[in-house]
Amino acid sequence: MERFSPIFLISGVITFLLGFFLQGALPMITLKDMPIKTIAEVAQNPPAEFYQLAEDYPAEFSRYYGEPNPESFAKAIKLGKETYIAEACWHCHSQFVRPVSHENLRFGPVSSADEYTNEMNLPHLFGTRRVGPDLIRIGGKRSNDWHAAHFYSPRSVAPYSVMPTYPWFFDAQQRPNEKGLAMISYMQWLGSWVPREESETIYNVGSMPPHANPAEVQ
Ligand code: HEC
Repeated sequence: MERFSPIFLISGVITFLLGFFLQGALPMITLKDMPIKTIAEVAQNPPAEFYQLAEDYPAEFSRYYGEPNPESFAKAIKLGKETYIAEACWHCHSQFVRPVSHENLRFGPVSSADEYTNEMNLPHLFGTRRVGPDLIRIGGKRSNDWHAAHFYSPRSVAPYSVMPTYPWFFDAQQRPNEKGLAMISYMQWLGSWVPREESETIYNVGSMPPHANPAEVQ
C-alpha cells in the first residue's frame, strides 16, 4: 500500500489543478468580457406598478423619489435589492424558476441565463431554500397595496405565513417609507421583463386560491 502513496498524492494534485482550471480559471477567462448591464440600463422601462406607486403614496413617493421615471426607478430598485440582501430575504426565497417539477406552472416561465447578466444580480440571489415561494416572477402578480400590507404584517393577507413582519419599512403613519417604497418597487421589477401575457396565462392554470386554508379546500 505504502509504495502507492506518491501516486495518490500526484493524482490528487492533478485532480485539484484540473478542477481549479475547469471550474475557476476557464469560466473567468471565457466570461470576463461578457457585457453586464448596469442598473440604469435595466431600469429604462419602469413597470406600470411603479407609476401607480407614485399615485398610491404621493407624499411619501415625492419626498424620497421625486417623480416616477427611469432615474428614480433605478434608485428604488437598487435600494430594494440592497435591503433584500440586508434583511436576508434570500434565506427563505429563491429567484430562479427551474426546468423541473412543472415549476413553470406555479411561478411562470423557466429562468434563462441572460436574465441574470446585470448589476441587479451581483451578487446573484438564486437562493438555496424555499421556505416561501420563488420571487423571480413576482412583478405584477400582486398589487402595491398587497405588498405594503404583507410587509407590515404577512399574516394580515396570508393567515398561515411564517414570514416575519417588517415594521421598519413604514413610517409612524404606517405608510411605506424610503425602504418600504424601494422594496415594493423591487418586487414589481422582478420578472417585469417577461411579457405579461406569457406569465399570466401560465400562473393561473388550475391554481388554488393563494394561501387557501388547506382544511377548506375540497
Ligand atoms: C422566515 C422565512 C421568510 C423570510 C425571511 C421572508 N419571507 Fe417572504 N415569504 C415567506 C413565506 C412562508 C411566504 C408564503 C406566505 C406569505 O405569503 O406570507 C412568503 C411570501 C412572500 C411573498 C409573496 C409571494 C407570492 O407569490 O405570493 C413575497 C413578495 C415575499 N415573501 C417577499 C419577501 C421579502 C422581500 C422578504 C425580505 C424583506 C421576505 N419575503 C422574507 C417566508 C419568508
